[in-house]
Amino acid sequence: MKKALVIAIDGPAAAGKGTLARRLAAALGLPYLDTGLLYRAVGRRMIDAGLDPATHPADDQARGIRLADLERDDLRVPEVDRAASLVAAQQAVRAILVDTQRNFAIAGGGVLDGRDIGTVIFPDATVKLFVTASTQARARRRWEQMAPDLEAPDRAARIAEVAAQLQARDDADASRAVAPLRAADDAVWIDTDDMTADEVLDEALRIVRQRTGDLKTG
Ligand code: CDP
Ligand code: CDP
Repeated sequence: MKKALVIAIDGPAAAGKGTLARRLAAALGLPYLDTGLLYRAVGRRMIDAGLDPATHPADDQARGIRLADLERDDLRVPEVDRAASLVAAQQAVRAILVDTQRNFAIAGGGVLDGRDIGTVIFPDATVKLFVTASTQARARRRWEQMAPDLEAPDRAARIAEVAAQLQARDDADASRAVAPLRAADDAVWIDTDDMTADEVLDEALRIVRQRTGDLKTG
């Protein structure tokens, strides 16, 4: 049987992983899974249950997660950013969520974005991309996503606040013992600082075509 085309996209917060993954999936006719939403859904459940995600095991919350839970519209708020990162450091939570992620793409392929897709979830992915940008560029993008008030007088100060939060979360994600944020050895890096989302998509498509072409002829 032909091996399913799996594309793993990892990188720090607000680098543009989701934007790229969604567009790449549409261009290639593959399903897309934003794996960060799994950890966000678990973090959300901890908050709703009044449990501290820094100290309380989140196994029960993780076990109950279904793909339909990822549709909730209250997952992309700052308190959930933090809660998601805290539950994501729990080994048991990660172990519970592995099958959902693998089953999503194992038969028909797919595009998944997160922190450990190329290192842990799909170490044999056909293509691995590590998408990065400077903290400043990422903070500006996230600010514009959340509150696109380009005229706000306190814009610079607010972006600096977002930058500090992103940096704290990246540091936590990169320094945790289980499945830390890092590029797989065979990942292709895309530094998106000076690139538009269109340019990033073009570059990713070029890498995918090259890799799948190599596989056909190799
Ligand atoms: O969208 P953003 O990059 O800000 O975050 P996200 O991808 O939604 O991920 C939220 C949090 O979930 C991250 O800070 C990580 O702690 C965790 N996460 C993870 O540990 N592993 C993944 N594959 C995806 C997310
Ligand atoms: O998924 P992740 O947290 O890595 O990032 P995202 O949610 O895709 O957010 C990236 C934001 O930056 C979106 O508003 C994009 O339109 C914008 N952006 C991008 O994704 N890529 C660029 N090269 C430039 C901007």
